[in-house]
Amino acid sequence: MEKKNIDWSNLGFGYMKTDYRYVSNFKDGAWDEGGLTTDETVVINECAGVLQYAQTIFEGLKAYTTEDGHIVSFRPDLNAERMENSAKRLEMPVFPKERFIEAVRETVKANAGYVPPFGSGATLYIRPYMFGSNPVIGVKPADEYQFRVFTTPVGPYFKGGVKPITIRVSDFDRAAPHGTGNIKAGLNYAMSLYAIMDAHRQGFDENMYLDPGTRTKVEETGGANFLFVTKDGKVVTPKSDSILPSITRRSLIYVAKEYLGLEAEEREVYVDELKDFAECGLCGTAAVISPVGKIVDHSKEICLPSGMAEMGPVTKKLYDTLTGIQMGRIEAPKGWIEVIE
Ligand code: PLP
Ligand code: COI
Repeated sequence: MEKKNIDWSNLGFGYMKTDYRYVSNFKDGAWDEGGLTTDETVVINECAGVLQYAQTIFEGLKAYTTEDGHIVSFRPDLNAERMENSAKRLEMPVFPKERFIEAVRETVKANAGYVPPFGSGATLYIRPYMFGSNPVIGVKPADEYQFRVFTTPVGPYFKGGVKPITIRVSDFDRAAPHGTGNIKAGLNYAMSLYAIMDAHRQGFDENMYLDPGTRTKVEETGGANFLFVTKDGKVVTPKSDSILPSITRRSLIYVAKEYLGLEAEEREVYVDELKDFAECGLCGTAAVISPVGKIVDHSKEICLPSGMAEMGPVTKKLYDTLTGIQMGRIEAPKGWIEVIE
């Protein structure tokens, strides 16, 4: 398919309408056949469950053009599984895994002209989501749902690309203990909006949220997990029941161990330890790995030894290997790459 005339290298992380999106409706206890549509609008009742009680979940993954010209996606099976967990936690019906993968594949294929070319620095972001669509006024789950997938070409999540960012330790919590921090529910993001705008107003790029129970341990940011590198080159990622199980982070731990021969561990990370790390990054589909140069904890400034000019050396190796796998320059572990076209 002919590529659209888009200035790929100057894309930010934003929404651009593409030609097709996938829609399937759940009614009377079953999903309909589903299919592609060109209509980007959603028309629902004023009292729909999603509008009144925020019954909505979503996923995020990307399609890439590989060096040899194929269009691929990265581990969509794990997004399907995570969406299944999100659905169960919010009393929503599960959209079956095989159908999820097929819906992603169909939507990307139909929008192939929007998949940024290899080497452009951009990718096609894929957003599957589901919401309660029928009227609900007493607090209860909806009976009807819509599952959709749309795509939008994107550049880097943070302005400035892979330049290190400055974050602050937030006084707001992102998730409650035993709450919904470990699923991808829209409500988690709604409640982070004040905190992120406040961070921006104070001159920070992002928030570092702490564990809501004790506020002594590092959790994650509003849209990515943390990855640290110790001074002796070990990769450490925070373990917590109230953070989103990032597919990027899980993949990076594997890459660190199996491709780079590094030690890597998932464990509790205390705020008191931050000053001892050599490198810090935010990892996620949108963030890829965005390096952190400085962490401000109220009156204390922690300047990572990797500095504000570029990514630390271990972060860089992880970044190059992961994106190499995603773009077909480096052989992927079995099952990680889904060839779409
Ligand atoms: N944490 C949060 C809160 C997120 O929204 C995301 C984005 O999906 C991530 C972490 C990273 O997860 P993944 O690597 O699966 O994209
Ligand atoms: C993603 O990385 O896919 C996300 O959903 C994060 C979001 C903040 C854009």
